[in-house]
Amino acid sequence: MGKKTPILGIRCTFQSLVCLLVAAIFVICTVHLTQSSSREHVLDRTASKGSGNLVSRCNLFYGKWVFDNGTYPLYKERECKFMSDQLACEKFGRKDLSYQNWRWQPHECDLPRFNATRLLESLRNKKLVFVGDSLNRGQWVSMICLVDASLAPELSSMHNNGSLMSFKAHEYNASIDFYWAPMLVESNSDDPVNHKVPDRIVRVGAIEKHARHWTDSDLLVFNTYLWWRRSKMKALWGSFESSDGIYKDVNMPRVYEMALETWANLLEVHVNRSRTRVFFVSLSPTHQKAQEWGGSEDGNCYGETEPIFQEGYQGQASCPVMMRTVEKVLDGLSTRGLNVQMINITQLTEYRKEGHPSVYRKQWEALTQDQLSNPSSYADCIHWCLPGVPDVWNELLYAQIMNL
Ligand SMILES: *[C@@H]1O[C@H](CO)[C@@H](O)[C@H](O)[C@H]1NC(C)=O
Ligand SMILES: *[C@@H]1O[C@H](CO)[C@@H](O)[C@H](O)[C@H]1NC(C)=O
Ligand SMILES: *[C@@H]1O[C@H](CO)[C@@H](O)[C@H](O)[C@H]1NC(C)=O
Ligand SMILES: *[C@@H]1O[C@H](CO)[C@@H](O)[C@H](O)[C@H]1NC(C)=O
Ligand SMILES: *[C@@H]1O[C@H](CO)[C@@H](O)[C@H](O)[C@H]1NC(C)=O
Ligand SMILES: *[C@@H]1O[C@H](CO)[C@@H](O)[C@H](O)[C@H]1NC(C)=O
Repeated sequence: MGKKTPILGIRCTFQSLVCLLVAAIFVICTVHLTQSSSREHVLDRTASKGSGNLVSRCNLFYGKWVFDNGTYPLYKERECKFMSDQLACEKFGRKDLSYQNWRWQPHECDLPRFNATRLLESLRNKKLVFVGDSLNRGQWVSMICLVDASLAPELSSMHNNGSLMSFKAHEYNASIDFYWAPMLVESNSDDPVNHKVPDRIVRVGAIEKHARHWTDSDLLVFNTYLWWRRSKMKALWGSFESSDGIYKDVNMPRVYEMALETWANLLEVHVNRSRTRVFFVSLSPTHQKAQEWGGSEDGNCYGETEPIFQEGYQGQASCPVMMRTVEKVLDGLSTRGLNVQMINITQLTEYRKEGHPSVYRKQWEALTQDQLSNPSSYADCIHWCLPGVPDVWNELLYAQIMNL
């Protein structure tokens, strides 16, 4: 690959959403929340379940980042045997490691400490599955690192089979899996390895091919956002194989809503409410334009060493309209008796402009010297270094799973 070949020339695998996303023409979401509404202190949907527990008393998603190198990181990058090279920033040369040391401090309470043993006890004979895109896969890797740190090496294993990656803690007969379905419904990007396609097509009405791999789980953690960041999407009614499918371009956010409705309808009918708990992780912000937080014109997340401290900060890459769409679909599902708990990471993650891998990662091969010296083209400002931000997403998930 010549030095002038930009990121478009890189073959994408399951390791990388970045090339796809950089190649895509982004729509800037123009609808913004006002400062006041983002600061507004409303208890979120997780609160309404309330039974006097922490999650019902305190909005865990409303708070600030505090430097705490005594407690964090919760595990060491090189000691996690399931670490992904895409997220191993220290291994790939990052020198400033302070991104590992931030604790999330809710304004009204403390975030409960992650206790892997306690979590594994509650997952005994159970299956937890993360379903979604590479951001969700990063959260899954984080969860496995958090949990595996408490286990002797011979007591866990990993098994990969196509779109499904399965971690097992043998003593507990507990599975923590990841299932690749970046748009939740079927799409032409479903191959876990070769999913870079020039024209993305999504079967907005079809999900059963994926769902049969996860409907029988005890806990489900979904996400989907980045792959939808286009002004419109080609939708298919019919199958990819047959010649009589109907293709239509459908605008955002309507096409996103259609897909989420398909997902919600399936959950409504197929999920056993007395067995399965469902979570949805809200959108993960990107930091590709330093100008948004007062940085240089051609800068991005590369070189950043501190979070943003301006309370309520929102970059332009987060789309409130899509957030509202998710909320609407979840509200609908809840009126039909299935409660999906939102893990609302968006605001707290907005602040973490310094937590991305930028050039300190391995995608296919480690970046070349030329690429390393050109961070404006090669920085990954989408995913998250580990240990780092996704560990906190998992602490939030942990608090909900444990009903703390
Ligand atoms: C998630 O947080 C954002 C920003 O803090 C807020 O606007 C939104 O209403 C929250 N959503 C839910 C479902 O709590
Ligand atoms: C934590 O950070 C402080 C301030 O930067 C530093 O003085 C101290 O040595 C650090 N402690 C550890 C354990 O890294
Ligand atoms: C974690 O949970 C286990 C099991 O409930 C308990 O024995 C242990 O003391 C806890 N560890 C910490 C550090 O709280
Ligand atoms: C082990 O866990 C699976 C769920 O992942 C469950 O179906 C199975 O019954 C469990 N085995 C035992 C012996 O409990
Ligand atoms: C992989 O998954 C397929 C279908 O989901 C299943 O038939 C096959 O037995 C699995 N293979 C292994 C080695 O687990
Ligand atoms: C739903 O889950 C409960 C608890 O695990 C179980 O007792 C019940 O048989 C399940 N119902 C169906 C229809 O599978």
